[in-house]
Amino acid sequence: MKAASRIVAEILEGLRSLVAPGISTFDLDRYAASEADKRHAKCAFRGYHKYPYSLCCSPNDQVVHGMASKSQLKSGDIISLDFGVIYDDFYGDAAVTLPVGIISDKAKRLLAVTEESLYCAIQMAVPGNRLGDISSAVQVYVETRGYSVVRDFVGHGIGRSLHEDPQIPNYGSANKGIKLKSGMVLAIEPMINEKSHEVKVLDDNWTVITCDGGLSAHFEHTIAITDNGPEILTQIS
Ligand code: MF3
Ligand code: CO
Repeated sequence: MKAASRIVAEILEGLRSLVAPGISTFDLDRYAASEADKRHAKCAFRGYHKYPYSLCCSPNDQVVHGMASKSQLKSGDIISLDFGVIYDDFYGDAAVTLPVGIISDKAKRLLAVTEESLYCAIQMAVPGNRLGDISSAVQVYVETRGYSVVRDFVGHGIGRSLHEDPQIPNYGSANKGIKLKSGMVLAIEPMINEKSHEVKVLDDNWTVITCDGGLSAHFEHTIAITDNGPEILTQIS
């Protein structure tokens, strides 16, 4: 899982340096697929329940599972890039939301709060804590800063399958849910909206957008729970 996750981290780093006004998400998708190929890794999302791309590209009011498109990104956009691979029979999965060119202060703050909520959640991923400690950490951090937590999509266990138990909501009560144990590997992925938490799926059956047109951000890491604390596998350290 370390090897698969490292590949995901490397490719997301490459994507980070490509994101700029003028590039299309179609180009980003092709880059991700060809970099995975070079590393003999298989893209995890393409073909998953017939999802047609390797990279989920969700700009602005798109929450998750956006479709690559030939239209160009422009300065002021934010773009969530979610990528996963299978390598040596194991999955790795991560996402970042990046600024395109110069973005507004309100967009910057949404990105910062969403990313920080992921790190708050990861800190709770220690043996003896409960699943609700992770969920609650995200919810409290985000809601005290005026944003809302998407409820219709969740993080997940990950291993030989992309989605394993447990489901990991980004809202819930501390001290509730299953006990966390050393050896568990989780994909924690807060999806945070600027305004209402309500989302809907477009007619393409994939793209999730905010109902009110507000911005949405998404960060994800695959992490392992160890006796020495959480280890972030999708981070190049
Ligand atoms: N990170 C997302 C997830 O955990 C990506 C899945 S996209 C899909 O579910 F196309 F594969 F569904
Ligand atoms: Co995921």
